[in-house]
Amino acid sequence: MSEPIIISIGGGKGGVGKSTISSNLGAALVRHGYSVGYIDADLGGANLHTCLGMRRPARTLHNFLTGEYKSLVDVAVETPVPKSWLISGAGEFLELANPNFAQKQKILNGIKTLEADYILVDLGAGSHTIVSDFFAAFPHSITVTDCLPTSVENAYGFLKSGIFRGLIRLFPGRDDIQKLLKAYTSPKTDKNAPTLDNMFAQLRVKCPEEVETMREWLDSRKLFLVLNMVRGQEEIAVGEGFTGIVQKYLSVSLRYIGYLVYTPEIRMSLRSLGPAVVQNNRQVAECFDAITRNLVALAR
Ligand SMILES: Nc1ncnc2c1ncn2[C@@H]1O[C@H](COP(=O)(O)OP(=O)(O)OP(=O)(O)O)[C@@H](O)[C@H]1O
Ligand SMILES: [Mg+2]
Repeated sequence: MSEPIIISIGGGKGGVGKSTISSNLGAALVRHGYSVGYIDADLGGANLHTCLGMRRPARTLHNFLTGEYKSLVDVAVETPVPKSWLISGAGEFLELANPNFAQKQKILNGIKTLEADYILVDLGAGSHTIVSDFFAAFPHSITVTDCLPTSVENAYGFLKSGIFRGLIRLFPGRDDIQKLLKAYTSPKTDKNAPTLDNMFAQLRVKCPEEVETMREWLDSRKLFLVLNMVRGQEEIAVGEGFTGIVQKYLSVSLRYIGYLVYTPEIRMSLRSLGPAVVQNNRQVAECFDAITRNLVALAR
């Protein structure tokens, strides 16, 4: 088996459909012949198991972090989606909603030992450090947003925080560079260097090699965009506009790979506590087939 492709799925705003896209995209990847692992990294509000039609699993990340289970794979459980497993977040353990550095690192290192063709890491809402850390740890990421301006703004914030977190993590122990980078996230400095390219140009004077390292890290990102709750063709233009803004201000390519229509059936499937993965709706299946084809073509 080749190296798994590990993809974080985030989007800033709560309720835009990150977990819905994660659960259904996994099922679509399985339909296309791939094995899938799900990781619920929404540590404070884990509910991916519900989206997969499961009750809370008996083993979760909590049992791994407490040392009850030595390997991360030991807390993986089967899901109703064939050829897939789930590692559930530790929802009810509030102290783990904000894990410390060592705990985070233990999870991130553990994820790299797991086996599946695709591993989907469902992130929590917001742009907190834990979310940005998980975004920055893996080159592949899908940003999910609906088409409302507020959601798109939060999606931009999610990407920006994640990218800066990734750049800062490139220089452990280098307080000088970390301080410079942090300054650029403040609104005041933002005005002097509104784009990441401006920032690189300014930093290059002081630290050209480090800027080169940052540029390489950015170029190794494979960032994808999925629009959710799309109600009409005209909303798809929001995606194009957004990828243009990300390219201009964050100097990174965000590839639009498809959309999911708004359909009440998705909500209803959650209520029935059957698999919330929608299998019998042709329109939904077509959306996920298109997303899957684009993802598979662009991910490697
Ligand atoms: N395309 C859609 N059409 C209709 N309802 C949808 C669609 N996508 C998601 N929903 C509904 O929106 C709600 C939020 O979805 P979901 O839990 O996937 O969002 P989330 O981004 O993971 O939220 P959180 O930030 O709380 O983790 C759910 O009730 C879900 O059924
Ligand atoms: Mg969620």
